[in-house]
Amino acid sequence: MLQANHLKCEHRRNPLGVGTACPRLSWVLDSDGRGQKQSAYQILVAGSEQDLRTEENLLWDSGKVASDRSFGVEYGGQQLRSGSRCVWKVRVWDGSGCPSLYSEPAAWEMGLLERSNWTGKWIGLGEGAAGDFEPPAGEEFDDVLIGLAPCSYLRKEFVLEGAVRRARLYATARGVYELHLNGQRVGDDVLSPGWTDYDKRIQYQTHDATEMLLEGRNALGGILGDGWYAGFVGMDPKRRGAHYGTRPQLLVQLDVEYTDGTRESIASDGSWKSSVGPIEFSDLLMGESYDARKEQEGWDQPGFDDSGWWPVDSEDDHGVVRLVAEPNQGVRVTREVKAKDISQPKSGTYVFDLGQNIVGWVRLRVSGAAGDRVTLRHAEALNPDGTIYTANLRTARQTDSYVLKGGGEEVFEPHFTFHGFRYVEVTSYPGEPSLDAVTGCVVHSAAPSSGSFECCNPMVNLLQSNIVWGQRGNFLSIPTDCPQRDERLGWMGDAQVFVRTACFNMDVSTFFTKWMVDVEDAQSLEGAFPDVAPLLRDLSMLDLSNGAPAWGDAGIIVPWTVYRTYGDTRIVEKHYDAMGRWMEYLREANPDLLRTERLGNNYGDWLAPEGDYTPKDLLATAYWAYDARLMTEIAGAIGRQDDARGYEELFRGIKEAFIGAYVSSDGRIKGDTQTCYTLALHMDLLPPELRGAAAEYLVEAIEREDWHLSTGFVGVGYLCPVLTEAGRTDVAYRLLNNETYPSWGYTLRQGATTVWERWDGWTEEQGFQSPNMNSFNHYSLGSVGEWLYRHVAGIDQEPRSSGYKHIVIRPHPGGGLTSARAEYDSVRGRIVSEWEIIDGAFRLRATIPPNITATVYVPSTDGGAITESDHPLERAEGVELLRLEDGETVVAVGSGRYEFVGSVG
Ligand code: BGC
Repeated sequence: MLQANHLKCEHRRNPLGVGTACPRLSWVLDSDGRGQKQSAYQILVAGSEQDLRTEENLLWDSGKVASDRSFGVEYGGQQLRSGSRCVWKVRVWDGSGCPSLYSEPAAWEMGLLERSNWTGKWIGLGEGAAGDFEPPAGEEFDDVLIGLAPCSYLRKEFVLEGAVRRARLYATARGVYELHLNGQRVGDDVLSPGWTDYDKRIQYQTHDATEMLLEGRNALGGILGDGWYAGFVGMDPKRRGAHYGTRPQLLVQLDVEYTDGTRESIASDGSWKSSVGPIEFSDLLMGESYDARKEQEGWDQPGFDDSGWWPVDSEDDHGVVRLVAEPNQGVRVTREVKAKDISQPKSGTYVFDLGQNIVGWVRLRVSGAAGDRVTLRHAEALNPDGTIYTANLRTARQTDSYVLKGGGEEVFEPHFTFHGFRYVEVTSYPGEPSLDAVTGCVVHSAAPSSGSFECCNPMVNLLQSNIVWGQRGNFLSIPTDCPQRDERLGWMGDAQVFVRTACFNMDVSTFFTKWMVDVEDAQSLEGAFPDVAPLLRDLSMLDLSNGAPAWGDAGIIVPWTVYRTYGDTRIVEKHYDAMGRWMEYLREANPDLLRTERLGNNYGDWLAPEGDYTPKDLLATAYWAYDARLMTEIAGAIGRQDDARGYEELFRGIKEAFIGAYVSSDGRIKGDTQTCYTLALHMDLLPPELRGAAAEYLVEAIEREDWHLSTGFVGVGYLCPVLTEAGRTDVAYRLLNNETYPSWGYTLRQGATTVWERWDGWTEEQGFQSPNMNSFNHYSLGSVGEWLYRHVAGIDQEPRSSGYKHIVIRPHPGGGLTSARAEYDSVRGRIVSEWEIIDGAFRLRATIPPNITATVYVPSTDGGAITESDHPLERAEGVELLRLEDGETVVAVGSGRYEFVGSVG
């Protein structure tokens, strides 16, 4: 029996403010039986619960559609308008033609689809409202900080003349904003509207305000900070406003529908009032300074006396600024971390240790006299004397300060900043702080968790934990390189190296859907993808507009990965032309099919340990060939067969040129580094007869390093998968289990709680690496996570499968492990692979969702005498023996839970 559950629209549950004209619907099938398949579905959509229940006045009845499709089904009913609310349900037929009950209903709501739906004006602090801004007393207010200004407070009172049926708040900012309605904070997103290239497009958010409104007088308030728009971003410290603009502005619109069906709209305009308040400044990199004595009690409630406030400054953009609905989950505080320890390296200087490197901020509890100023500085590591190590932050300050208003316990959290830190230094704290004076608030784009991995080795579990923490900390509106120093940019190379691992840990479908638009927005007229997206065009030290090999190529690799993981063809369709332009850009300049031109900043195998030099032109050419191969697949997936043939031919041409230029007849590759062999094997750049030899040279190159890896960012992600595919999982486990430099284990032994930027971020011999580039929270070297899921636990999909339609369950025991388990919530449902070895018996439990076929490889050293749920194979329900391989029995199964027992050793 099948049942459709977990209904989603555009990859989200019950989303508001959907911006695509034809939203896609999906569901997950639950079933208890084996070999279950959906043979048909029917979707009903109505404008209200009532209409859906009675199945009258439907907006869409898909009818019974013979199909096993359970995601990416485009809404095909009556045209939807701005604000249209849709309630829907689905039923499915199983393989034997038996229909299910209808699912529980789910909903979605359209956003403001036309620019003309926006009636408001951009508003900001009125002239004079800030007075003459005085830098906060007690701050070391040097050149870098000059330009920071107090956050603006904006407010408007209005009267509602009746009972409200529905109210939606649409809002965005040039800057970052927080909304308040009748004294309450609206929604729980922070740092909205997130970072995009504000010159090209700004995202807006949609909030349900129905329950927050009152009949009669209401007050709507907004606080505005500089954010990415007007504050410090990147590694080129500039005064406020360098990148996009100088004056933060808010645009907001409250659409109210009364119970009698009449409507009203309250929008930002010249009638709003403005003031400054307690936030003396709040900057993403620098931190926040807050003076509680300047709070204006009741400013966000009706009846507040705003006679001392100034008229706002307002601007009509005449519809030129492109506003788009936010397609992804907003940035939120998703969890809290309690402090584990306090030390006092100097008298009056308290250092709190959260025990975990996190991204976000702390909530401070403090009691004292009005005017006392507490300063919080954030750092990832400690100096030998126990003080905080801040040298690696470069010009970022990540310092918050709080001035007390006095009169009891006060609680402070900053508004428009985030820090990367494990330690918080607290100075000038009135009295002696207790451990709970500081609580860590973890902030990131709230992509739901979609996978977990664990095994019997605590060190490997810690590595997995560090990888996930790195993802949490660095997926903040965009995929950043690091969250602490003055950088925090959407480096493309880092993103493509990590994307596959990221897709296991969290449902990042919408996160990358959003970011790919940033990537396309940053593409040059010639077709170059950039090094970073959003692109900062005005950095004085580096031109980042012409993507380097392995950086620009993210423009192909990321959407391809999203397509394969989520079966999402829309992302590749949407960016298909942009990807084509990139391919043309490379081809035009490299007619002999070796990528020696248009290399941009050409970072090579970035941060490989010294002495390991992978030729940059080789790396570049390999990535170009890989692009062509992925484009072949992408073009095929969206029915562009002619293009697919063209890309296939291009791939073959580049491969031939690669072999001619870099591969000798015995399979040696120029450079002879681990990365050379890894790329050539992974990207299929060798004649088939030389693959075996190349794999041996790869192993030799590892042996030369005394069984250590010597790759940088670029080689590391594919290294272990390539070893497994070459039959050398034993070597991959050696790398995993290493505890000496360079290795993941080495960093773990030094107490790492996130993945480091460099293998030698801190070593026993040298201490800290150069502070110029030494982040302790960079996810790239954590790209080994993919191998843990795919090969250690063994959840993978067939090479040409997308959306996990044809999966492979193939655990690779080894490395001393006796058990491992991974769960992964695919678009078709939860896949589980769990194995353990007890007394030479290998027990594999696998869960396969409906609509999936799985090829399961069960280790069995005694020639196929495996059982499933205690039955010999020939009597096991729904299990088909495919073949015996060396040491493995290979079977095919459909959906269901299975327990295989084989043997090892
Ligand atoms: C960043 C990297 C990035 C690199 C480019 C660094 O400063 O932190 O992660 O990919 O520059 O090579």
